[in-house]
Amino acid sequence: MNNLLDNKVAVVTGGISGIGRATVDRFLAEGARVVIADIRDDLGERVASELGDHAAYVHTDVRDEHSIEALVSRTVEIFGTLDIFFNNAGTTGSPAAVTDIDTAGLDSTLTLDVDSVVFGHKYAARQFIAQGSGGSIITTASVAGLQGGWSSVSYSTAKHAVVGTVRHAAMELSQHGIRTNAIAPGVIMTPLIANAFGVPAAQADDLVAFLDDRLGGHQALGRYGTAEDIANAAVFLASDLSSYISGTVLPVDGGVSSYTLSTSDADIAAAAAEFTQ
Ligand SMILES: NC(=O)c1ccc[n+]([C@@H]2O[C@H](COP(=O)([O-])OP(=O)(O)OC[C@H]3O[C@@H](n4cnc5c(N)ncnc54)[C@H](O)[C@@H]3O)[C@@H](O)[C@H]2O)c1
Repeated sequence: MNNLLDNKVAVVTGGISGIGRATVDRFLAEGARVVIADIRDDLGERVASELGDHAAYVHTDVRDEHSIEALVSRTVEIFGTLDIFFNNAGTTGSPAAVTDIDTAGLDSTLTLDVDSVVFGHKYAARQFIAQGSGGSIITTASVAGLQGGWSSVSYSTAKHAVVGTVRHAAMELSQHGIRTNAIAPGVIMTPLIANAFGVPAAQADDLVAFLDDRLGGHQALGRYGTAEDIANAAVFLASDLSSYISGTVLPVDGGVSSYTLSTSDADIAAAAAEFTQ
């Protein structure tokens, strides 16, 4: 690796699984010390101890503002500073359609996916301002935050909202040398996808392999995205390589959010040819 994050201290929320876990590994490989923030304590403690002295686990429920505040304080107690804060924990939330969504389903999705990001910005930025040396905040948005038609109305609403958080916060925080950017993954085969389709977590890896085999060839660039694809983008946004980039949303989706899946010109030309015969 390239020591892109030497001497940096990073927090990764939702760092036990999927995109978060892959990012923890990449940040460590680039020289960072990393706090894994999650709610599954036994697994979190075990993962951190397996990763060695440069990793630590801190119980954090990102739905709770005070839990995020405590996470930042604890990180500074453990590693002495904070340089990178990755708002990654999230859920697909309520699958209900527009005609069925209720307050409970919408609120629970927004609390986990949006409050977490707003308060992650609040407490990371306060710490960065107190330190006086800038910092990088990264948020896992989604292609569902750029377009409709992915997942559900609650998830799309939540992910569009965090794009707004990032764009606005970039303006307020730039005077302090703090950058904030979002990553918009396409479909990434993680346990979150297994959960969304009702497959138990223990079978998540098998489902991922099965879907990759069955459907991967139909995806953009001929495969599904991986957690490592997102982790590589997070390394870039965390590092000084992106020192003049803030307020952006970086799609990591093989390109699918850049073009329409609507009727192509070739389809229209074929229909027109049939009509004129
Ligand atoms: N997998 C995809 O296709 C995809 C696509 C776009 C965006 N995303 C986003 O990526 C992020 C990570 O998703 P993933 O696919 O790696 O999912 P995942 O289920 O593998 O990981 C999510 C992690 O968040 C943790 N978590 C859940 N609730 C929490 C809480 N209240 N407090 C702290 N931690 C909590 C879980 O324990 C888990 O470790 C999410 O924000 C998700 O919306 C995923």
